[in-house]
Amino acid sequence: MTVSAFMVIAHRGASSYAPENTFAAFDLAIRMGARHIELDVEATRDGHIVVIHDDTVDRTTDGSGPVAGHTLETLQALDAGSWFGGEFASERIPLFEEVLRRYKGRAHIHTEIKGRSTYLSERTADLVRQHGTVDQVTITSFQKARLEEIRRCAPQLTTGWLLGEVSDAAIAQARALGLRQICPRASTVTPELVSRLHAEGFVVRAWGVDTELVMRQVVQAGADGMTVNFPDKLIAYLASSQSTAARPTAEPS
Ligand code: G3P
Ligand code: CA
Repeated sequence: MTVSAFMVIAHRGASSYAPENTFAAFDLAIRMGARHIELDVEATRDGHIVVIHDDTVDRTTDGSGPVAGHTLETLQALDAGSWFGGEFASERIPLFEEVLRRYKGRAHIHTEIKGRSTYLSERTADLVRQHGTVDQVTITSFQKARLEEIRRCAPQLTTGWLLGEVSDAAIAQARALGLRQICPRASTVTPELVSRLHAEGFVVRAWGVDTELVMRQVVQAGADGMTVNFPDKLIAYLASSQSTAARPTAEPS
């Protein structure tokens, strides 16, 4: 993996600088130069797929209660930005299909299935197909059941398993399921783990990068990508690593 091919995946958008999982955060990530965004999906009471991390709206909006207890209309009336900063008061919870339309051709969309229903997996896959974005979406989940559903209903989609700890059993299950990516917790990523997963044919992309030190360690371990809240810092680090590697050795005087 060359550093220029490294997947800089803006985690919930550029979520260090703008409210997570909003157009403001995704647009900013793209302006910073990220070509990958990550988001989380849940289903509303009336069956719409929306982009939100928690299963309740309490932390990231001015509303309360479970996402699955709201209709799309009541959800989209909520302010999804002020909790982060007053200048984001106009941000709303996006519909997944709005994200597909807005970023089609501009960003690869790493879509994490958060909710726990077969309906959510199947409807998410349907929307990806309907919008002609199969090659621009990777489906991820911590839940093996959701990945099994995606493999069954949309085998053409790229899938990645988010794991706290990579084990022999998980590798065997991922292989049997036909998953393309293994997504280990960043603090567990070592050169040995990456080599092993590469030898098994997996793309290795980390999650849970909370400091620049961990960010650099994941790159140095040889991984293929990571989700990161501060894509600008990762892009700058990759650029500096590349220019250091390309610099000719000084002639002895
Ligand atoms: O990249 C995956 C990462 O998003 C998983 O954790 O809690 O941020 O959804 P979380
Ligand atoms: Ca996520």
